[in-house]
Amino acid sequence: MSIKNLVGYQVLDSRGRPTLAVTLTMSDGSIHTARVPSGASTGIHEAKELRDTDTKFAEKYYGGKSVYQAVENINNTIAPRLKGHRPIPLATDGILVELDHTPDHHILGANALLAVSLAVAKAAAHTAGISLARYFQPEGKLLIPMPMVNILSGGAHANRTMDIQDVLVLPNGATSFAEALSWIVAIRELAASKGAKAGSVTHLIADEGGLGIAFPGIDNALEFVTGCIEDLGLNVGAQVSLAIDVAAAQFFDGTKYKLATQDREFSSEQFVGFVTKLVNNHPILSIEDPFGEDDWQAWSHFMESAPSNLQVLGDDLFTTNAARLKRGIEEKCANAILIKANQNGLVTSTHSVLKTAQANNFKTVVSARSGETEDSWLADLATGWRASQIKVGSTHGADRTAKWNRLLELEAIEECEFARPF
Ligand code: PGA
Ligand code: ZN
Repeated sequence: MSIKNLVGYQVLDSRGRPTLAVTLTMSDGSIHTARVPSGASTGIHEAKELRDTDTKFAEKYYGGKSVYQAVENINNTIAPRLKGHRPIPLATDGILVELDHTPDHHILGANALLAVSLAVAKAAAHTAGISLARYFQPEGKLLIPMPMVNILSGGAHANRTMDIQDVLVLPNGATSFAEALSWIVAIRELAASKGAKAGSVTHLIADEGGLGIAFPGIDNALEFVTGCIEDLGLNVGAQVSLAIDVAAAQFFDGTKYKLATQDREFSSEQFVGFVTKLVNNHPILSIEDPFGEDDWQAWSHFMESAPSNLQVLGDDLFTTNAARLKRGIEEKCANAILIKANQNGLVTSTHSVLKTAQANNFKTVVSARSGETEDSWLADLATGWRASQIKVGSTHGADRTAKWNRLLELEAIEECEFARPF
């Protein structure tokens, strides 16, 4: 079976902003569509997402955020080159790299490349007669990753109601994905109603479906979520723990860490102390981006005294980039990596970064973006790649539930086991 046709076009993401889709038609008439996500608190080292700046495309209505140039790149440059080829991800990704060999894929756009790369992977799984998850792991039980789920949102996703971006929960004691999800939904419901009773809900549902409740400080937000877990009779620590995404690059100016809601400033050294206190005072099992994306020293310094069971997770630090991960491993800056396909640009090289991390005993957390679509390929990649965790935002919004529901589907129809990474 070969690729008969490939069409790129602009669609909308969960924020109502333009993003890219590709529909690929195979010689057997089957149709495979892939849609790409888009971040808001993006790392500066991410692959380049092409947005229209050329006056030819930049219409006033989308405020420079349209992706018509990337659409043209797919339809005029990529499609003619791939037509007639068999859908083999490694080979077609190789052709995409030939067409745009720049490390950040700024010529054709990482969004254009990823949309095509994903559509080809879907077509390859179809050709093999198996699910996308199974395509990456043909034999044995699939591993359903542990969900890391957003309860409270702040930072760039919630009008900066909190300085840190997410307070999440990790159902580390759950024995199945279905059980994990039931606990999480209960925690989120209770957090919403307790927040409303206290009169502190801003009525804001944030970009990833989390609650945008305003708290005077980070400690209060963490105590609030811990209280919700306890009120439900769940054992804090043994069954459910906290995770946070500090997204520190959002408030680090290169010299100072500035917590605006508390009107406090920290040097890099002082902020290592602040974060250390935070993880020692609360039941936190995972901390993401506690320091700036180029403040490597703060990361390695923190790691020296961090609790041994703490997951120290690099998102903006690594940007799913092989060279940055290599440096992080060598300098012992973290022990886990967030994997976002659109930070990288290609399915196979994203997979390769994840495999390097696994080979170096790093935990891997496959992640959605704050701007998502109803596409659910992320659930299949996370499962087929044996990632230990998956981060999709909250349990609200079809862009989020599409992934959770696909994991429930995989757990029901495939032979699976549930990841217990902690
Ligand atoms: P983004 O945020 O998709 O807006 O970059 C997600 C994250 O920081 O994990
Ligand atoms: Zn992050």
